[in-house]
Amino acid sequence: MNLPKKVTIIEVGPRDGLQNEKHFVPTEVKTNFIKKLKAAGIKEMELTSFVSPKWVPQMRDASEVVEACLDSDRNIVLTPNQKGIERAMAASCEAIALFIGVSDTFNRKNINQSTRDSVEEWKTMIAALKAQGHFVRACISTAFYCPFEGKIAETATIHLCEELANAGVDELSVADTIGMAAPTESYSLFSKLHERLSGVLLTAHFHDTRKLALANIYAALQAGIHRFDTSAGGLGGCPFAPGATGNVATEDVVFMLERMNIKTDVNLDQFIEAIDVIAPSLSRPIESGYYRLAKNKERTK
Ligand code: HMG
Ligand code: MG
Repeated sequence: MNLPKKVTIIEVGPRDGLQNEKHFVPTEVKTNFIKKLKAAGIKEMELTSFVSPKWVPQMRDASEVVEACLDSDRNIVLTPNQKGIERAMAASCEAIALFIGVSDTFNRKNINQSTRDSVEEWKTMIAALKAQGHFVRACISTAFYCPFEGKIAETATIHLCEELANAGVDELSVADTIGMAAPTESYSLFSKLHERLSGVLLTAHFHDTRKLALANIYAALQAGIHRFDTSAGGLGGCPFAPGATGNVATEDVVFMLERMNIKTDVNLDQFIEAIDVIAPSLSRPIESGYYRLAKNKERTK
């Protein structure tokens, strides 16, 4: 087995996890949640997104969230365009994530622009961000399947990743947006990306719609990937991707990795406390295996 000694967890709960929540989660709850996640050992996290509040009302407090939580960790914010970058700069953000769909139809539904136009616009914005010393992450949506176009050609995903790597991004987070990929597809794509893109950080982002995310992570580990986006409590989903339910739960991933003697530096007891902060503000129960068992154990003590 080709397994690393350590894996980096990038927590996306405060952004991907909350963006699809029906009811507005108070800013103070969001910031307490983020602080508890940091206390549990998370060092890289998507805090929020500077998107249009008309499109995603839940993220309308992005500036306040950032103001309360910035520190020396890698605090990532998503931005869809120049206006988003300007808002992020005004809030003193260091790490910026752009997001692009391989599928043109998805990209239009998500950010009202063709994939080609997005890439061309981002080339200029990436160069400017890099010249100012920022960390730039590119989130690649619909890397395997699209809810509108179906299966995405592996070559199309690889080509887009290569283009963005050549444009200067530091990290590529490659996503199975609607949780359709099989472990064989995860292994195939990530092996090729790992072989071709040695100069960028490669991260895998699996939604757990069909409960294949842990198997896909295991396959990606075999392909040499050591960085995973995960979400506390398995929250998440893109409002513009029908059928995209939660991300794989951080606590389930950490539990699996630690059982395999792979270090994550995440303290699971403290991590459960972080989920307890956000759970009462959510419109659905937390269903991750590790969280449910931890709560049952508490009740029967
Ligand atoms: P648009 O309507 O085409 O934009 O939306 P526009 O330029 O015509 O602007 C419309 C209004 O929005 C204007 O305001 C702008 O000023 C304002 P008005 O004049 O009407 O008052 N506006 C903004 N306001 C705040 N921040 C901004 C901003 N930009 C424009 N940055 C736009 C285009 C990109 C803005 C919109 O489509 C958008 O915000 N989309 C965001 C969608 C989103 O957040 N999706 C979820 C994140 S991606 C994801 O979850 C996938 C991922 O997890 C990986 C995976 O799993 O696949 C990353
Ligand atoms: Mg996502």
